[in-house]
Amino acid sequence: MTVQGAVLRALRKPRGTASQGFGETTRRDSWAIYPILQAIVFTFCAGYLTFSGVLWGPLFGPQFVEADGYLSPLFSPLIVWPDMPRWLSPGLLILWIPIGFRATCYYYRKAYYRFYFADPPGCAVGEPTIHRKFALENAFPFILQNIHRYFLYLAFIPLTFLWLDIIPAFLPDGRLRLGLGSAIFLLNVTLLTGYSLSCHSLRHFVGGRLDCFSCTRRQRARYEAWRWLSSLNRHHMAYAWASLLTVTLTDLYVRLLAVGIVVDPTLLRL
Ligand code: FES
Repeated sequence: MTVQGAVLRALRKPRGTASQGFGETTRRDSWAIYPILQAIVFTFCAGYLTFSGVLWGPLFGPQFVEADGYLSPLFSPLIVWPDMPRWLSPGLLILWIPIGFRATCYYYRKAYYRFYFADPPGCAVGEPTIHRKFALENAFPFILQNIHRYFLYLAFIPLTFLWLDIIPAFLPDGRLRLGLGSAIFLLNVTLLTGYSLSCHSLRHFVGGRLDCFSCTRRQRARYEAWRWLSSLNRHHMAYAWASLLTVTLTDLYVRLLAVGIVVDPTLLRL
């Protein structure tokens, strides 16, 4: 056996303690409901967002990125130039960051390994034995999941622009507008901020690699920031799903406004 073969063999997934055989388990609860529901919601949202942000323009022409001062979060910041090729959606120029951020997210990895790869299908539930042939995140392609922290740093760029988009959402012509659209935009950017700040990598970035939490003023400040991020981190799963739904809803709302199917209900205009 070659050295490389021996290393890969050592990295292969251990047999584990779950019941043997795909789907075998001693659990008596309805463990399959959550992965199935999550697969449906995730596939729908990911499919819709890819279609709207990347495929719609090249396939059908008009982009519907903006309506009544609302810029779809899939296209923010909006990058266009005069002779831009039709096959290139402006969404693609920015969406690779949030897509990479979500695809490599620790929580989403757990979720989609479960519902797409049955790896494992649930806690203490047997998985297909074919998984033992692979080194999983120790080898290509899944070793690329380790670049998550770099997507985290990049994710704050579109997030900053999404907060800037709140200004025209509330002040489209210099006058205050409180409407359903501005409320959806504020909710969306708040949840996206919660999702980013509750990231496991950010928690480690702020509070990791410290031998002492109280030795200097800077270390005490990092400790307090780490405690605050940890309290957000406990809700990371909720932020992940809620923000995925609000991004989808926000883009859909802008599209429906742009084609005139809905009119933005305004509660207050000053
Ligand atoms: Fe989920 Fe970083 S762990 S965004």
